Amino acid sequence: MSQDIIAIDGPGGSGKSTVARTLAERLGWAYLDTGAMYRAVTAEVLAEGISIVDEEAVVALAAAAVIATTPHVSINGRDVNDEIRSDPVNDNVSAVSAIPAVRVAMVERQRAWAAAQDRGVVVEGRDITTVVFPHAALKVYLTASFAERARRREDESAQALGRRDTADHARTVSPLVQAADAVVIDTTNLSVEAVVEEILSCLRTSN
Ligand code: DC
Repeated sequence: MSQDIIAIDGPGGSGKSTVARTLAERLGWAYLDTGAMYRAVTAEVLAEGISIVDEEAVVALAAAAVIATTPHVSINGRDVNDEIRSDPVNDNVSAVSAIPAVRVAMVERQRAWAAAQDRGVVVEGRDITTVVFPHAALKVYLTASFAERARRREDESAQALGRRDTADHARTVSPLVQAADAVVIDTTNLSVEAVVEEILSCLRTSN
């Protein structure tokens, strides 16, 4: 199973989603944006009027949620594709994703999704190389300068991105860290195509 998984982690604005999607297209593999799953849970928590500090209610919602990420992101059949990029979701997703039982529920779905694919998968997020698929054939950590990452996030202020960075790095459970054996790519001055090419060449040498 491990030879068909490329795991990509990195902070917001590092290029994960665009790179992972393009890479999956080039390889003919399936693609999973795990951030969209945490965002969908957050959107639903807010829509249901559940308080973010009511961990029990947030966990119950996450554990029972039916989430799809393609072609549109939906939760329990409700299309939240646009809503998941809203300020309220940007502001609350780190808190929701720091709840251990929420992570357990999402990781379970991510592994089940990958196991159900009949082809290779490219999965991106914050804990994919360290927790979800630590035995992936190729692990990549994407990074970029804060200024460049903030510039790329059209839908989020630099302050909000900075707060999310701090929270995602500092949380106790599955914080965003570089896996020791991940290929680190600084995308600050690289085109999407150049990053994809670099990953493809790493994949060829790792096989
Ligand atoms: O990749 P993104 O910016 O869409 O992710 C949104 C948030 O979801 C991010 O701030 C932290 C959380 N997240 C996570 O905790 N673990 C993942 N594997 C993916 C995202």
